[in-house]
Amino acid sequence: ILLAALAVLAAYLIGSIPAAAWVARGRGVDIRKVGSGNSGATNVLRALGSGPALVVALFDMLKGALAVWLGRALGLDPALCALCGVAAVLGHNFSPFLGWRGGKGVATSFGTMAAVDPVVGGGAFVVGTACIWLTRFVSAGSILGALTAVTLAAALARPGWLILTVAFLAALLTWQHRDNITRLQAGNERRLGQKG
Ligand code: G3P
Repeated sequence: ILLAALAVLAAYLIGSIPAAAWVARGRGVDIRKVGSGNSGATNVLRALGSGPALVVALFDMLKGALAVWLGRALGLDPALCALCGVAAVLGHNFSPFLGWRGGKGVATSFGTMAAVDPVVGGGAFVVGTACIWLTRFVSAGSILGALTAVTLAAALARPGWLILTVAFLAALLTWQHRDNITRLQAGNERRLGQKG
């Protein structure tokens, strides 16, 4: 139990590394003051372009996957490995380096889901990416991808802990997008590639 607690704490710290904020700061930009104000790859894309955005997206995905792999390397059971992934997402969204604020957890949730269950993560990625491609709304694609993961996990009769993990991540991700949902309803959500 001590080992599991330490792994969850380490996973939280891995997740809390604020890649978007630090990459932007390195370029003299305060990510919280531009575009949507979100510390995530989408907002880095708006502020700094595709190179830095790709670095942030990959790094944030890796945080989730690394957290799960850390649990596995320590021989924890699969449900606890998934919990490590959840801890990384919580670290990303509520980071001590950003005054307990952070991003929306899209890339880190995806990294976690893909490491826990590649079929569920892959399905979420395909549907989410297709939605982004069709609508140019990253927020809508992120939410739809997360809901796809829950549907897939249930439809494929995955174990209860896995369905619960994915459902928690999807609920948290949707809650973190509450401002985006308001903007989508009002018709003023930023589209992919739109500056500012
Ligand atoms: O990465 C989060 C994405 O779904 C939305 O980001 O900056 O448009 O709020 P943003």
